[in-house]
Amino acid sequence: MTTFATMEKAAQYELRLAQRMSRLGTETAFEVLNKARALERQGKDVVHLEIGEPDFDTPSNIVEAGIKALKAGWTHYGPSAGLPELRQAIAEDVERSRGVKVTSDWVVVVPGGKPIIFFTMLALADVGDEVIYPNPGFPIYESMIHYVGAKAVPIGLHEEKDFSLDVNQLAGLITDRTRLIILNSPHNPTGGTLSKRDIEGITEAIGDRNIMVLSDEIYSRLMFDGEQHYSIMSEPGFKERTILLDGFSKTYAMTGWRMGYGVMRPDLATHISRLMTNSTSCTASFTQIAGIEAVRGDQAPVDRMRAEFQKRRDAFVAGLNRIKGFSCRVPRGAFYVFPNISKTGWTSKKLADALLEDAGVACLSGTAFGDYGEGYLRFSVANSLENLNKALERVDRWTKQNL
Ligand SMILES: Cc1ncc(COP(=O)(O)O)c(C=O)c1O
Repeated sequence: MTTFATMEKAAQYELRLAQRMSRLGTETAFEVLNKARALERQGKDVVHLEIGEPDFDTPSNIVEAGIKALKAGWTHYGPSAGLPELRQAIAEDVERSRGVKVTSDWVVVVPGGKPIIFFTMLALADVGDEVIYPNPGFPIYESMIHYVGAKAVPIGLHEEKDFSLDVNQLAGLITDRTRLIILNSPHNPTGGTLSKRDIEGITEAIGDRNIMVLSDEIYSRLMFDGEQHYSIMSEPGFKERTILLDGFSKTYAMTGWRMGYGVMRPDLATHISRLMTNSTSCTASFTQIAGIEAVRGDQAPVDRMRAEFQKRRDAFVAGLNRIKGFSCRVPRGAFYVFPNISKTGWTSKKLADALLEDAGVACLSGTAFGDYGEGYLRFSVANSLENLNKALERVDRWTKQNL
């Protein structure tokens, strides 16, 4: 119980945080979600297009496997690197999907995709090392680079290039201090993808330098119009220099189960596992049993979700392109839409705030993904067509009244 006496005592002791905490960033999506929820508590109706998670239920075969695992007693600690059978299933899946032969000791299972970003940075980037990362990009990259005291070197992704990466620009950013390059395809927030040709260009730019690549492929199963995902890990000479990040959150609508993985050379995997031992011990055991079913079981639900996302993407992009001041390219993967709003004359942050507060549509400012996101908004299309249409009507009405 908080008494007056304990409150008084807390005020007496100034909070003295470690200095590194001032360098830690955040993920705005969660802040906007909280703000939207507060507006809802005041009686406002909000369409949620801010958070990046599938609105579908986890496929029932996976849920059943999880329940069975709980009843069978998978409720205890497991090995830090993950259950051997799941690591084996993932290794086989990586070989199937990327054509790279890896064994289970290349796989570390962690609670979500995010810890692989955290652990990779802790394990590889020293103070002063340079890390090249996409901007706009998933905000945790920049946050973690700063946190470990490395130098964040942004590579701008541009609409004219369909938000893929400019290889010449990358070549110009690589220095003797470059320790790590982060790639993300399909890309959050733009939906851009890297083709096999793009990847080949990137490998040429890196050459035979001893630089590691963190390849965030968490949306690899969400490519549209029949486009195939291509991983840098498949390139000659890059198996040992890649940490492949993938997981269950987006592919199998399992965000709340907390499970992802990294695939990397075994000598690095040992260190990432040690970071697991020091932080969370292991990923939940029953979750991992369900993960085996996810990887080895029926994949039809994944295809159904992808088809549905593509339908929504098409409808939402077409709708946005009819709205004054908005223009939007068709994203090639993931479930985000990233319209250019510079013709509205508003900054991204002000417009996102106004759309939430006045129009009841929660989306994210492009700047939530870095400075290069100015002039854009991010909408997640992981919501029903009905809600997406409602959002379009609201944004349209708002622009007619305010622009
Ligand atoms: C690019 C990217 N990487 C990693 C993650 C983290 O996924 P998880 O929820 O599995 O930690 C996300 C989640 O939004 C993401 O967009």
